[in-house]
This record gives sequence, C-alpha cells and structure tokens, in this order.
Amino acid sequence: MFRTVAAPDGRGDSRPRGERSQRLRAAAALGSLLLLVVSDRGVAATPDYEALRVAPYAVTPEDIADEMLKLAHVGPGDYVVDLGSGDGRLVIRAVSRFGARGGLGVDINDKLVAYANAWAAEQGVSDRVAFHTRDLFATSVSEATVVTIYLFPKIMARVRDKLLAELAPGARVVSHDFPLPGWRIDRIATFAAPEKNDTTGRRDAVLYLYTVPARSAGQ
Ligand SMILES: C[S@@+](CC[C@H](N)C(=O)[O-])C[C@H]1O[C@@H](n2cnc3c(N)ncnc32)[C@H](O)[C@@H]1O
Repeated sequence: MFRTVAAPDGRGDSRPRGERSQRLRAAAALGSLLLLVVSDRGVAATPDYEALRVAPYAVTPEDIADEMLKLAHVGPGDYVVDLGSGDGRLVIRAVSRFGARGGLGVDINDKLVAYANAWAAEQGVSDRVAFHTRDLFATSVSEATVVTIYLFPKIMARVRDKLLAELAPGARVVSHDFPLPGWRIDRIATFAAPEKNDTTGRRDAVLYLYTVPARSAGQ
C-alpha cells in the first residue's frame, strides 16, 4: 500500500529549510545514514525485520504531524508514544514544539531508530525522548497519555486491542489514515497533503482521534 520512500535525506519533505539542515547534520553525525535508502527489502535492519514488519516506512508530512499532535491537544502533561516511529518526527515534535514532558518511539528498523536518536540529540531533547529498536507489539504503552500511529490497515484490530488493554482511561490515540475498527471516533479531520509519499496515491491525510473510555467495574 505504501510506496518505498527515500531515507532521511529531506527529499520530498515539507520541513522548513533550517530544520532540514539540522536533520542533515544529525544524519552526517551518523556517517552512512545520509546514503541510506530505505526500502522494504534493501534496508539494513534487525534480523527479524521481515517477520515483524506490520507497515513499511512512509513519513507523515511535517505539517500533518503537527495536526496529529494538535488534534490530541498535546501539552506539558503528556507522554507521547509513536508506535512505528520512523525518523522520530512525531515524538520529537511533541516535546520540542508542543512541550510534552516526554516521549518514546519504537521501530523495528534500527537505522531509523539511530537516526531518530541523533535527531533528538540535535534538537536538544534527548533527556526527554528515547527511541528503541523494538516490536511495537512487545512495547508497553501503559505510561502514554497520547499514542500516535501510522500503520497498516490489516493490523489495526490487533493494535486497538493492545491500546484498549494498556492505556489508562482518558488517554488519546491519533491514527493517520487508517481507523481502529469498532472504536468510537471522537473526531475525524482531513487535510491536504500534496507531498504524501505512500502508494495509495492520495494527496490528503485523514486523522482519527480516539479517547480511551472509563473502565466499567471489574475491568
Ligand atoms: C508508515 S511508517 C510511520 C512512521 C512515523 N510514525 C511517521 O508517521 O512518520 C510505519 C513505521 O512502522 C515501522 N514498523 C513496522 N512494523 C513494526 C513493528 N512490528 N514494530 C515496530 N515498528 C514497526 C516501520 O519500520 C515504519 O518505520
């Protein structure tokens, strides 16, 4: 469903020039990352990458990332987790632009995780965010007050069950493009996204906001 995209090299990125150059400096610090091309087959990654992969790499455009965080009303009280964190943009922006108290990103692609950690250092938020090479289904989200996702439709029911089992009531979830089946949607917001790079060919982004409901007695 997603088109393979260039690795963290700024191509097709809507990020302002200053931010792009910061990201390039972060990549330069990692040496070969500037040359990395992420593809579904060609990327160097953890040995079980293919077995665990539930979504290929496609970036959420920067302005859409901001809309996701706005939709969840991310602020100083929040701890934001991005499941399948890619280059780290959601979590880094949550802290650096929205003032979240902390954040975590997990991705099975170790190059992306290294890149995200370098970018976090570049942005001066390493003390508040962390990125780990880890299967999202093996990652607890119980500390999160906000979870962001941009994953594959066929695993959304499994993701929904995990989120509902682990998140505290009142936690918010924002999903990019793909709804969580059977969970009442609080808000849907659609934005133009001409720079979108997935294989759907769509040039918009649909964001779905959910809130974890109060648990009934005995749950
Ligand atoms: C569509 S990208 C979204 C990246 C980022 N969240 C964003 O919105 O820009 C999905 C990401 O999920 C990662 N991924 C796929 N399967 C995973 C798994 N089982 N555990 C953790 N990450 C996974 C991919 O490597 C990819 O970086």
